[in-house]
Amino acid sequence: MIAPSILSADFAHLADAADSVSRADWLHVDVMDNHFVPNLTLGLPVVKSLHKATDLPLDCHLMITDPDRWAPGYAEAGAANVTFHVEAAANPIQTARAIRSAGALAGLSLKPGTALDPYFEILKEFDTLLIMSVEPGFGGQAFMPEVLGKVTAARRAVNAGHLRLFIEIDGGIGEDTIVQAAEAGVDVFVAGSAVYAADDPDRAVTRLRELARD
Ligand code: DX5
Ligand code: ZN
Repeated sequence: MIAPSILSADFAHLADAADSVSRADWLHVDVMDNHFVPNLTLGLPVVKSLHKATDLPLDCHLMITDPDRWAPGYAEAGAANVTFHVEAAANPIQTARAIRSAGALAGLSLKPGTALDPYFEILKEFDTLLIMSVEPGFGGQAFMPEVLGKVTAARRAVNAGHLRLFIEIDGGIGEDTIVQAAEAGVDVFVAGSAVYAADDPDRAVTRLRELARD
């Protein structure tokens, strides 16, 4: 699946940004609070409006402090998937359950330097595992191939039947990097600049999907 990140779109025209990627599977929405990451984007009111403006499932990636408090609200606002950072969560299991109760998929995200091993036990509480392949905060950064080991480990567990999980990667995904991520076992590819810097975003989505499938 391809999930264009609207972080690289024109924030004054978000509905158009959604319309321009009609062939996407999910629309990735980066919520940043100027605290967990050094950047500030958007929050619940924008997610609510965006949900009304597009049929694409919203993949909300919360890069915020205290996700335990805020994450379930994004499910209530209409997000299809709500992912929060394990580094910021006080009670990830309880938060995942609250997201699911509110009707969305629950996602756990790891920064590039955060190991997966300590969290294997709690992954059964989640539907998606988002592995960051750049430091969270900004679009357009270079892909960090060293995170692919975490993808491989998660893929092995999924294939062995221990987990039911979408493995998602976020950061620096484009035509030059998507194949190695696909080979490592990624299911969902977030792409911001690679989609929205293209002349035809929908064509970029199709091209990325073709490369990932090859
Ligand atoms: C970064 C965000 C990403 C970002 C990716 O913190 O989580 O979703 O939009 O942008 P690209 O694809 O340009 O690296
Ligand atoms: Zn993101």
